[in-house]
Amino acid sequence: MRISAIGLGEMGATLAAALLAAGHEVTVWNRSADKAEPLVAAGARLAESPEAAVRAAELVLINVQGGAVAADLLRAAGAALPGRTVVNLTDGPSEQATAAWELATAHGADYLHGQIMTIAPAIGSPDAVIFYGGSRQVFDRHEAVLRVLGGRTTHVSEDPSVPLVYGMAFHDIMWGLLNGFLHAAALLRAAGIPIGRYTEQAEASLAALPSLFPMFGGEIDRGEYATPFGALLHHLPSLDDLVTESHTRGIDVVLPAYTRQLVADALAAGHGNDSYSRLVEHFGRRASDA
Ligand SMILES: NC(=O)c1ccc[n+]([C@@H]2O[C@H](COP(=O)([O-])OP(=O)(O)OC[C@H]3O[C@@H](n4cnc5c(N)ncnc54)[C@H](OP(=O)(O)O)[C@@H]3O)[C@@H](O)[C@H]2O)c1
Repeated sequence: MRISAIGLGEMGATLAAALLAAGHEVTVWNRSADKAEPLVAAGARLAESPEAAVRAAELVLINVQGGAVAADLLRAAGAALPGRTVVNLTDGPSEQATAAWELATAHGADYLHGQIMTIAPAIGSPDAVIFYGGSRQVFDRHEAVLRVLGGRTTHVSEDPSVPLVYGMAFHDIMWGLLNGFLHAAALLRAAGIPIGRYTEQAEASLAALPSLFPMFGGEIDRGEYATPFGALLHHLPSLDDLVTESHTRGIDVVLPAYTRQLVADALAAGHGNDSYSRLVEHFGRRASDA
């Protein structure tokens, strides 16, 4: 298949290389042309402009830094867009995917937005996750070639902006979990306990954490928070202990105190017998309601 890759940074160059290795006819363009040299040496053609790159292919991948840059490149290539399929793999706020979709489709192109959930060295591996949004029909037409980039390639929505929300939700979870882990690591270290020993011996407890996601997710989707066990009121004494222990050991108390306050506020509002998932109502309010 004739494919163009626009943007040859760390990720874009890897995407282009994977498509070349799979035997596709690849044309590349990058603002700094020198980054195209290894790909040209491997058989890619160099386009002299974004428009020329789009004109050279049926399928056009865009992977640059920032949705505004991707939109500028699409605008610059506007005259060549009719009849092409644009696959924008650029991260950004979800409204940028909607805007790029509007731009591409107004120029007569099909449009998919992809969210790459892996680092560059994993591109092409069976475990590499990439979420796509946009027309299912367009995705189906190109699925085989998109699967070259990641074995776990999934169409998640007809709405092209959804993959970006998926990516952000993952990062949201990741940073929350990591902050909790690193606070715990500081506590363990202050107590003279090697973190590696803890992760090994507490493995079964830690491994149980992800099972809470579908359980809490179901409660939130149904708006049903009442629970016969593990209710919010039982969390408060443990949070008090964590705040006290953190204070005593001279480590940060802001993170546990923040969590303690969320739970105390929920109890004060009469939600003591509800599941911990009830706190989504705190995170879901508008800042102006705080
Ligand atoms: N790297 C990863 O592991 C990874 C993982 C998942 C998702 N992503 C996403 O993939 C996208 C690219 O990331 P990256 O890591 O490859 O970034 P990068 O190495 O910093 O490359 C950035 C790319 O954007 C181009 N660019 C920046 N400003 C431009 C402008 N004004 N006009 C034209 N081109 C411009 C750069 O061109 P020049 O070469 O000329 O500077 C380069 O091709 C981002 O949305 C990123 O979030 C990356």
